[in-house]
Amino acid sequence: MIITIDGPASAGKGTLAKEVAARYGLAYFDTGMIYRAVGLEMYLSHKNLDSEEEAEKVAKDLSFAKMISLSEDADFRSPLGGKNASIVSAYPKVRNTLLKMQQDFAKNPILPDGKIAKGVVYDGRDTGTVVCPRADIKLFITATAEVRAQRRYKEFQSKGLTISYEEVLKDIIARDERDSKRSSAPLKPAEDAFIIDTSLLTIEQVREKVFKIIDSH
Ligand code: C5P
Repeated sequence: MIITIDGPASAGKGTLAKEVAARYGLAYFDTGMIYRAVGLEMYLSHKNLDSEEEAEKVAKDLSFAKMISLSEDADFRSPLGGKNASIVSAYPKVRNTLLKMQQDFAKNPILPDGKIAKGVVYDGRDTGTVVCPRADIKLFITATAEVRAQRRYKEFQSKGLTISYEEVLKDIIARDERDSKRSSAPLKPAEDAFIIDTSLLTIEQVREKVFKIIDSH
């Protein structure tokens, strides 16, 4: 069973994808992590983020272990980390290099306790369109940029990060622009995706809708 959950930044995909994975005994793959890892590695090793070739080299050297170790850095989930990820993720050579790693995960999906899972929940931007075009269920989770900025702002505040709502909104709009205008795998729902706009919904309402779709499958 493969479920893909795509959508723009801060639409609530991560929380939802983890809940879906836990409920249905599926492994979880946060594909944004691979682009965050490449962007952060470039930044930490002072590589030129404008160079597709440099980014491709870093992508070729990426392993799960390296990604996990980079995820412990404070900038992995910071606004800077998000920006760097969206820059490197626009390079077709980087996307091609990282495609197999994402697809291979479904061949041997492992749960955090080491047991074999019954399938995978992918969370990203292109998992229903490019990574797993034959997924069993595809969801596209979205919300207005303002609502997403508000949610991300609260999250940063709870982590003690000093950033204004306006800055968060500007960053979200810039990321949306880069993610949806890039030539390679632009952010868009798969033709057969269920589109859920969460702007006016609580997390409980979103959960209810999604579980209903999956249960009826
Ligand atoms: O989901 P997250 O915010 O962690 O993703 C970081 C960045 O990685 C996104 O802004 C997007 O540019 C890129 N990304 C992507 N394709 C994916 C997942 C993430 O291009 N499947």
